[in-house]
Parts: sequence; C-alpha cells; structure tokens
Amino acid sequence: MLKNSSLSRRCFLHVSLSGLAGATAVAVGKNRYLMYPCQALDKPKRDFEVHGLAPLRKRAAAKGLIYGAASMQDYLVSDKNLEASLKSECNILVPENELKWDFLRPAPNKFDFTRGDWLAQFAIRNGMLFRGHTLVWHQQQPQWFKEVVNRQNAEKFLVEHITTVTKHYAGQMHSWDVVNEAIEPNDGLKGGWRRSPWFEFLGSDYIELAYQVAAQADPKAMLVYNENDLEYDTPKHETKRTIVLKLLERLKSRGTPIHALGVQSHLMGHETHFNPKKLRSFLSNVASLGLKILVTELDVIDQQLPSSTYERDRIVAARYEDYLSVVLDERAVIAVLTWGLSDRRTWLSMFTPRSDKTPVRPLPLDSNLQRKVAWNAMARAFDHAPKR
Ligand code: XIL
Repeated sequence: MLKNSSLSRRCFLHVSLSGLAGATAVAVGKNRYLMYPCQALDKPKRDFEVHGLAPLRKRAAAKGLIYGAASMQDYLVSDKNLEASLKSECNILVPENELKWDFLRPAPNKFDFTRGDWLAQFAIRNGMLFRGHTLVWHQQQPQWFKEVVNRQNAEKFLVEHITTVTKHYAGQMHSWDVVNEAIEPNDGLKGGWRRSPWFEFLGSDYIELAYQVAAQADPKAMLVYNENDLEYDTPKHETKRTIVLKLLERLKSRGTPIHALGVQSHLMGHETHFNPKKLRSFLSNVASLGLKILVTELDVIDQQLPSSTYERDRIVAARYEDYLSVVLDERAVIAVLTWGLSDRRTWLSMFTPRSDKTPVRPLPLDSNLQRKVAWNAMARAFDHAPKR
C-alpha cells in the first residue's frame, strides 16, 4: 500500500542559504525557510528504525529481490575495506565503466576484456550475480570512434561489438543493458529519439537490431532497456515516460527479445515534484507488457541540500525510502542497484560537487563505510516490500 497522504504534505526546514541555489525558499520574518515535501522533515520523529543488522542483500533476498552496486575494478583492487563492504552488502555487481566502449575497445580491431573479466571473476568468486552495462550508448566512445565509424560501417561495428562482448560473457551475465538512454525529447527529433551516432547512422532500427544480436549471442541473459529521467512529475520526465512506454510496446509487439526496463534512478535530493501515483502507474504499465523492472543506478544527488550532515542525511534517506516504497510495491521489480555503495567512491563527487566544498553523501554507506540513515531507509524499504 502507498502512503500518499504523508508523501504529498509539505514540510519546512530551517537552513542557512549557503550552497542552496535552485531550491525553493520562502522568507519568514528574519529567517529563511526551505520547502521540502518529504516525510523525514514532515515528521521530525521519523527515525528510520531498522530491526537487526542483516545486510541489504539478505533483506532484499527475503522478498525475492536482488540488491547490489556498481563499482570500478581499481576501487576494489586498492581498497580491501570497500571490497569487504561490497561482499557483505551486495548480491549483484555491475562494472561502473569497464564494459563501456572506451574501456573495452582500445583500437577498432582490438578488444581488451582484462578489467571486465577481473570484475566478473570477483563476482563469481564471491557468489554474486554479474550485470553488464552497456552495449549501445552515445557516451564514452573511444577516441577513434568519430574518425572510424560512419553510415556505411555503423551496422557492422554495432553487430560485431554486441556479438563479441555478449559471447565473451555468455553464461556469466545475469542481465545486459543492451541499449542505454536512446530517448531524449530535448534533442528535438521527431519521435523523441536521442541524436546519438547510432540513430544518426542507422535510424531507430538500431534498437531492435541490438536486441536481436544480443539474444542470439547470449540467449540466457536478461536483456534490458536502460533509461534516465523517468522518476519525477515534471513535463520532461512525463514526456519521457510516455515515449519510453511506446517504445517498449512497439518492441514487444514486434517480438523483439527484450525482457526488462532499467530505471536508472539518479534521484535529486532537492526535487519536489515526486508523484507516487504517476510513478506507480508507469511501472504497472511497463509490467503489463510482460517486462521485468530493475532499479539500475540509484543514488541521491545532494548538491543543493543543506550543509548540515544531519539534515542532509535525513533528506537523502527520506528520498530513498519514499522512492523505493513506491517502486518495490510493483512486483515486476526484481532488483535494486545503487551506483556505488559508499560515499568514498561516487561519480557524483565529480559530476555534482557542492558549492560549500563538503563531500557529497549520496550512497547508503558513508566514506568510512559506516551505515548511514540512507542505509536504514533502504533496509526499511526492503523489509516492508511485498514478497515476489
Ligand atoms: C558514469 C560513471 O559512474 C562515471 O565514472 C563515468 O565517468 C561516466 O559515467 N548513467 C549511466 C552510467 O548510464 O553509465 C553513468 O556512469 C552515470 C549516468
């Protein structure tokens, strides 16, 4: 059941204004207050209480769910403590970068699987599932890509890449993000397609082709379409949900071997337009196509949240729990992965640094690998989720 009434109420947080560009501020007397609709602050007594010390992977497994995280190989090689935390909390591992074109393809005729293989072995050795990210994307292409790939040879490169990489890991992959972020209405193309090299060279047919080729090379892996900006009640996200749903409908109606939607879930701590009903109904619609759903890259961007660690952590935690309680209500959701495990190693340190220069805190463990209230929020969401 959803807790709509408290989700939609507004609450007020007393904060200093430093580092809060972009958030909604209202002046009250001499003080300034920021509005955050969230249960954490709505209910100051919200305690994120968790029973027991069981790790996230166990709580998820108790509900038929998989929990895991992204990591880079060098983080694990150089950091025994992070390795230990990952082993204890996670049931699934996804390489954060090592299976992208720029890591795998040093030259047009060369594949380098060294780092990907290390991570696959790490996962297998530790009884974790292994996930592939990503075969077809518009970013992180190697230097040579622009000079070498063109309209004439794009299909050959696409087919060769997908075949080689999926064959290499066939039998080891739980799931593959075959295509990542193919829709971007802001690019202005008819149909909402992203102006990616793949679209420009091959038109929208590249999507279907990618799934056909992947299914042939690795018939066992779950084939996922992964997308961002689906989570909020804003015109941009609404448009994207509509277009993505149409794309999935079309692929399914043509018998394309696609098995799941990946909802990236890079949540924004300051975003106030969260509508549980709309998100929930989108997930139902996806499920009704016979597709599974994975939360593939969850974290909470705290760039515009207060400086105070206490307040910031509570808002981040509330975002985790409020979001996951809606998402996990849908039984087609089978897995949750955070994009990193500890604030020690997060892409957001570079991508969304804070203006007050304090380190970002977007993940369930802090930079000392201690569980934060965000961890409790995740544990609670798993504990309260219906069984699947
Ligand atoms: C990010 C990685 O975390 C960074 O290390 C890298 O520099 C850029 O890519 N959506 C995706 C992921 O699908 O591949 C991105 O990962 C984060 C956004």
